Amino acid sequence: MTTTPVIDGIHLHARLAALARVGAIDGGGCARLALTDADRDGRDLVVGWMRAQGLAVTVDAIGNVFAIRAGREDGPPVMTGSHIDTVRTGGRFDGNYGVLAGLEVCRALDAAGLVTRRPLCVAFFTNEEGARFQPDMMGSLVHAGGLSLQEAYAATDTSGVRLGDELERIGYRGQAAPGAIRPRAFVELHIEQGPVLEEAGYTIGAVTGVQGISWHEFVVSGTAAHAGTTPMRLRHDAGYVAAAAATYVRQLTHDMGGAQVGTVGVSELRPNLINVIANHARFTVDLRNTDEALLRQAEQRTFATIEAVAQAEGVTVERRRLARFEPVVFDATMVARVERVARAHGHDPMRLPSGAGHDAQMMARLCPTAMIFVPSVKGLSHNVAEYTAPADLDAGAAVLLDVLLELAQA
Ligand code: GLV
Ligand code: MN
Ligand code: MN
Repeated sequence: MTTTPVIDGIHLHARLAALARVGAIDGGGCARLALTDADRDGRDLVVGWMRAQGLAVTVDAIGNVFAIRAGREDGPPVMTGSHIDTVRTGGRFDGNYGVLAGLEVCRALDAAGLVTRRPLCVAFFTNEEGARFQPDMMGSLVHAGGLSLQEAYAATDTSGVRLGDELERIGYRGQAAPGAIRPRAFVELHIEQGPVLEEAGYTIGAVTGVQGISWHEFVVSGTAAHAGTTPMRLRHDAGYVAAAAATYVRQLTHDMGGAQVGTVGVSELRPNLINVIANHARFTVDLRNTDEALLRQAEQRTFATIEAVAQAEGVTVERRRLARFEPVVFDATMVARVERVARAHGHDPMRLPSGAGHDAQMMARLCPTAMIFVPSVKGLSHNVAEYTAPADLDAGAAVLLDVLLELAQA
């Protein structure tokens, strides 16, 4: 006998709390940088839950994990999922929520005695965050054919450790060929990570797409010299160029307005001493816009300014691209489906683009894709204080359940 499947919110919250204990840091957050021991421990915990639920687990050669719940028919599964790696100062919901809610959908179907027509798949993708190895969304990018395994394995962290070696070391270089599991459709549930839903008073966001992302690293080489004796006209100060770049990026976002955002998130000086002019600076620039032409304009203006400042200071600057993804627009039918299901649950959904990068933007290259957002308190994310109210977590998971069910029964 079948009954109507319902999400077990208490179980979802308990699993989120259990996963948050892996790599826990002060303030209630998580540090599970991709392919560290903490990431491995988080993976082991989630894979254990997948197996305990009777799902068939496959690990591919980039470490993406797929858990399949069989349908009445074989064929491409309806897929959901996200990531369980975090930034070093991460919260407990970013990524984890979407993966664990997907497992709750399977539990709800089990409890209801329901076998769907199509198989369902709950996935988590390797290195979504890109905080340790670039580019971000790496596992889903490889899955979608946008990056070769060799290129992904060759990525190094700031200590020179290769991603391929770390994947092997933590035991997650699987046998399956990336991309072998080609989904029929992909739906990712995620916290918004920004303030829009909360400020406007919405519980469910129907995500229309993801803005373009541009990540570059700059290395400036100048001349170390005495801070007291060196006349200003004779300085080749790498630290000054890094500071000028950070100030310019902020000014640029003001000048361009609209959706343009810009961040200098890494800034390192050498020798980093109070009385020595820095001979080395390394900094990163993260630029994002929903409009590709404007994003290109932001890149060109930033690059030209940094080069001009470096030239005037008499230092050299090298630029390296770490990640570059164009804006993605999600399938209109899928977005409308999220809205319709949300309304059936009594919500008034809000359409909005995603400010953060997501695995869904890579999966959109393969199949009709959509995302569901729930509010983030004070818009905080990539912060240990990241929080979403339990009722909102439950609301999002309930919408995910019915969207997946529609797709899997069609
Ligand atoms: C990745 O999650 C990003 O948006 O930076
Ligand atoms: Mn995320
Ligand atoms: Mn994130």
